[in-house]
Amino acid sequence: IHVDWDAVTAEKGGFDHFMLKEIHEQPQAYRDTMRGRIDESGKKVVLPELKLTPEQIKGISKIQIVACGTAYHAGLVGRHAIESLVRIPVETDVASEYRYRSPIVTKDTLVIVVSQSGETADTLAALREAQSHGAHVLAITNVVGSSIARDADDVIVTLAGPEIAVASTKAYTSQLIAFYLFALYLAEVRGTKTPEEVAHIIAAMQALPEQLESMLEKPDAIKAYAEQISKHEHLFFIGRGLDYAVVQEGSLKLKEISYIHSEAYAAGELKHGTLALIEEGIPVIALATQEDVLEKTVSNIKEVSARGADIMAITHEDHVASLLKSVNQAFAIPKTLPLLTPALSVVPLQLLSYYASLARGNDVDKPRNLAKSVTVE
Ligand code: AGP
Repeated sequence: IHVDWDAVTAEKGGFDHFMLKEIHEQPQAYRDTMRGRIDESGKKVVLPELKLTPEQIKGISKIQIVACGTAYHAGLVGRHAIESLVRIPVETDVASEYRYRSPIVTKDTLVIVVSQSGETADTLAALREAQSHGAHVLAITNVVGSSIARDADDVIVTLAGPEIAVASTKAYTSQLIAFYLFALYLAEVRGTKTPEEVAHIIAAMQALPEQLESMLEKPDAIKAYAEQISKHEHLFFIGRGLDYAVVQEGSLKLKEISYIHSEAYAAGELKHGTLALIEEGIPVIALATQEDVLEKTVSNIKEVSARGADIMAITHEDHVASLLKSVNQAFAIPKTLPLLTPALSVVPLQLLSYYASLARGNDVDKPRNLAKSVTVE
């Protein structure tokens, strides 16, 4: 018998591409990133690795989150988590802009840099800029011995395991888990959430891996939709609040590996210019999971529907039936707390990019012009 075998195929563990393997590793990455950071009662976040003292935490007046690309998008969700749970003002910056805008950094500013590789030149430069102003810098990174991990004052390691595909998937979602844990820890120390509220969020976080596993069992509908959009050159993503943060990541992923041009828009912003681009048959992907703004999102969906857009919505099971009145197709994701939804809702968008790239015959794991780690500014 002849068996085709090589080391790279073996490392893919039976998957056709590293990206697909890494998408499927996300439930385990969630478990590993949470492990040891939730106490035995399951009701409290503990971050034994932090040097930041409770006194320092109580003195934080502002947080700046700085990162590039997908890690920046994780920071957008991180901002929401910290502001909603802890009520500390948070700014989010792309690292290549941060240094040049002369950021206002004081000793009471906590700067969080986020980087899968820990080697991104712009993010490392931002870290040094923040330290030069006396700020405490916390790094969220996937690589323990990286330059960013070494230079930061504090590190929360995401335990996603090695990420090989250029398109980041499990690193992003592990960064979300790290942000949720850190925000909960800040809320405990500053007393902005009751122990019951914290325990409730932790319980929902612990359910995420299984919810994600159930989603990954059914990729067929997304695959079919990806084949449909692979014939288009332009499309739009819309969403509000956390959904807007997630569609920005979905749009980047799609551009990066399928080479389809897309734009992610805050759904309420369309009518300020972009609606002019909506014409008959253009695909619009609407993320509609955030209950507090759902009605508003639906009215934005109707605006694009009236111009002939072909709309696909991603929402919670309970809203599929009502949304189907305004959209062409809808995919359901399992229900979790609104704050935690990005850890589930991004996954259909990752799969969409993967299958669209595949349908176009692209090199999924190594998209043109891009490198896994960007070590030049
Ligand atoms: C994501 O799919 C990209 N390849 C890219 O945006 C990446 O997230 C960015 O270059 C930052 O990398 P880092 O997390 O290693 O710092």
